[in-house]
Amino acid sequence: PDPMSTPMILDCDPGHDDAIALLLALASPEVEVLGVTTVGGNADLENTTRNALTVLEVAERTDIPVAAGCGHPLVRPLVVADHVHGKSGMDGPQLDPPTTEPVDAHAVDFIAETLAASSEPVTLVPTGPLTNIALLLRHFPDVVDNIRRVVLMGGAVGLGNRTPAAEFNIWADPEAAAVVFESGLDVTMVGLDVTHQALMGREHGKRLRPTGRCGAFVADLLDFFVQFHERVYGLDSSPIHDAVAVADVIWPDLLEAERFHVAVETDSELNRGRTVVDRWRVTGKDPNARVGLAIDGNEFGEKIVERISRLP
Ligand code: RIB
Ligand code: CA
Repeated sequence: PDPMSTPMILDCDPGHDDAIALLLALASPEVEVLGVTTVGGNADLENTTRNALTVLEVAERTDIPVAAGCGHPLVRPLVVADHVHGKSGMDGPQLDPPTTEPVDAHAVDFIAETLAASSEPVTLVPTGPLTNIALLLRHFPDVVDNIRRVVLMGGAVGLGNRTPAAEFNIWADPEAAAVVFESGLDVTMVGLDVTHQALMGREHGKRLRPTGRCGAFVADLLDFFVQFHERVYGLDSSPIHDAVAVADVIWPDLLEAERFHVAVETDSELNRGRTVVDRWRVTGKDPNARVGLAIDGNEFGEKIVERISRLP
């Protein structure tokens, strides 16, 4: 990474789109991945941690530490998204199991130690349920000074995807999400409104397949991921949700975004995990998040193909 690169930590639940988000970060000199932490979400913690190790090995970046975090939300039981990502959490690609192990430290301790050791504030990019981040803020309140900003994939101004009301990452651990949105940190919410414009499909995969092992891996990820979105949304492509969060760190002007107040529903069963975004500023509450509203999907897809093509 070049000396001007932004240090970041990816907290994720790979996950097809988490995997693409990680590869995008590894291919981009604008960011330096200090570590990858994992959380239960798309699949259980054992699977998401194994998948994170696998992605780093495919990219020949096993120098980057992986720390496993919370296997369950703060309060509620874990409900995985195997109907989307398959039993392994990353079905589709046929890969050998990783030869590496995560570090011994828990993700929350790993993030706190990494923040303390960094010479400059670190950008946190959570792309799964926010359990680890909420615990970090509660257990190490002083680290907030070392957090440059939080760019999270989650929520929606409009419709949800896990339920009509809520997006999966927020729905999975609403209490953790509430802690993050109420933290006073510089939070960017990359929600479904913008990620459903960031579509990639089999055509992108066809272009990526000959570019290397990572390109072929992403092509296999897309082939599987598209099957779900064809079935549910009738789309011939998939929103690469988590890569949009990383893209916001790499290309700060890529997203159209505005600051609004965002609150998280934690009481209602019907609206559990809904991000209530004060889009028309009717609550009088001060904005607490920068909310992604739009992105040029074609530009996004081309950038991802160009970057992933750089990898081995
Ligand atoms: O709702 C989409 C989000 O849920 C993405 O982060 C996807 O990986 C899943 O975690
Ligand atoms: Ca994810």
